[in-house]
Amino acid sequence: MNCLVNFKTPQLKKIHSGKVRESFRIDDQTRMIVATDRISSFDFVLKTAVPGKGAVLNQLAAFWFENTRDIIDNHFIKLIDPNISLVKEASPIRVEMVVRGYLTGSAWRGYEKGKRKVSGVTIPEGMKKNQAFTKPIVTPTTKEDSDREITPKELVDEGWVAANIYKAMEKVSLALFERGSNMLEERGLILVDTKYEFGLIDNKLVLIDEIHTPDSSRFWSKENYENDPVNAEQLDKEYVRSYLLKNKKNDVYPDSLPDDVVQETTRRYRDIYGMITGESLPEIEDNVLARVHSNLVKHKIIKDGFIAVIMGSPSDIEHCNKMKDIIEKYDVKVDMRVVSAHKNGEEIPKVIEDYNNSVEPGAVIAVAGRSNGLGGALAANLTIPVFSCPPFSDKDDMMVNINSSLMMPSNTPAATVVDPKNAAQIALRSLNLSRLKNIFMKEIQKMKADLIEADRTIRGENV
Ligand SMILES: Nc1ncnc2c1ncn2[C@@H]1O[C@H](COP(=O)(O)OP(=O)(O)O)[C@@H](O)[C@H]1O
Ligand SMILES: [Mg+2]
Repeated sequence: MNCLVNFKTPQLKKIHSGKVRESFRIDDQTRMIVATDRISSFDFVLKTAVPGKGAVLNQLAAFWFENTRDIIDNHFIKLIDPNISLVKEASPIRVEMVVRGYLTGSAWRGYEKGKRKVSGVTIPEGMKKNQAFTKPIVTPTTKEDSDREITPKELVDEGWVAANIYKAMEKVSLALFERGSNMLEERGLILVDTKYEFGLIDNKLVLIDEIHTPDSSRFWSKENYENDPVNAEQLDKEYVRSYLLKNKKNDVYPDSLPDDVVQETTRRYRDIYGMITGESLPEIEDNVLARVHSNLVKHKIIKDGFIAVIMGSPSDIEHCNKMKDIIEKYDVKVDMRVVSAHKNGEEIPKVIEDYNNSVEPGAVIAVAGRSNGLGGALAANLTIPVFSCPPFSDKDDMMVNINSSLMMPSNTPAATVVDPKNAAQIALRSLNLSRLKNIFMKEIQKMKADLIEADRTIRGENV
């Protein structure tokens, strides 16, 4: 698996899930943006992902943030993985500042039908498809469920942004567009159009989101455009779009791409990175998820593994805390949850979805007595180990609780461990982290040495 399709971890709170990117909360001032390898075309996400695409997008944005900071400060803090950036949290201004250098895309489609105004900007008569404007125009839209063209005056009147801030956004957008166009021109590329997003940090205007990436911009090759302006092809998307168009059946696009198209798309995205930055990207690893895991741990964003302690009732908390205390000593994340298989079983699929796709190794300890449905319901659906550790108040209670934990139907691999300390230890061992193996080895050696020592003492050999 060398694609990052679905990034999940129980250790971070997800704050936004877009078509392609996922955003997570790090702290009040910081968010983490993960650019996955998902690809969308004609406004839907394809079932096949494109290896390397997320890394190209994320690293291109980083390149441009670094190369435009003299024009305006931005949210970018650092890359922590080719697919992941840490950024400063801003209060986003819900406006997309679209800048267009050429009459194409939706503006051209409207123009063809006689439309001469886009977001309050008048487009002159007699223009041809893909023709350059005399100078770039700014055609803002609102950021809503479906983006809406809007004039600067309406933006201010409707309260989307203050007039003075809009003025600054407009000026900066044009300056960024000019910088982008000039830098790309040197590399034989045309920045056709793009959109910028802004936010406020401590009342200061900053550039947020992404900048000059294939997902937010259109690029043409200059040579291609000059030879045949009307048929200029979008460098990245055109290839996938034309495959989808060619293979449309009964008015429905294919929902996935064949292997050779995926490989060619990867190659094109990586080419674009090279063309824009002048540098080539390292080969894509065989296991991108393992790389992401190791980078997140290295940057102390997550711990290297987690153990979920899921109790059927909050009254089991004391029993669970015994395990939590032990697990945390090993610097493993504990995710404590209350979910009852019998009473709110509808929560279980959500838990399963999170844990089955988590980037780090994990295990589950299910704490439920009487008739233990929880351990089984989890074990039958999870790809990670499940240990039942039923709570009990006395010996009779114990016999009832243990029996219902032990009797599992087929394909329901829940193991039962009675002692909470043992449950914590087996869950930790099941993570198979080499860091922990070393610690356990030392503990085992110490246990043996202590026994030998005790034996000697009892036999009077230590006198
Ligand atoms: N630094 C930031 N602070 C706050 N919000 C941000 C920041 N950077 C980007 N955003 C917001 O995060 C969201 C990212 O969404 P995205 O992944 O592009 O998916 P989509 O646009 O499809 O919803 C956007 O709403 C954007 O405005
Ligand atoms: Mg977006």
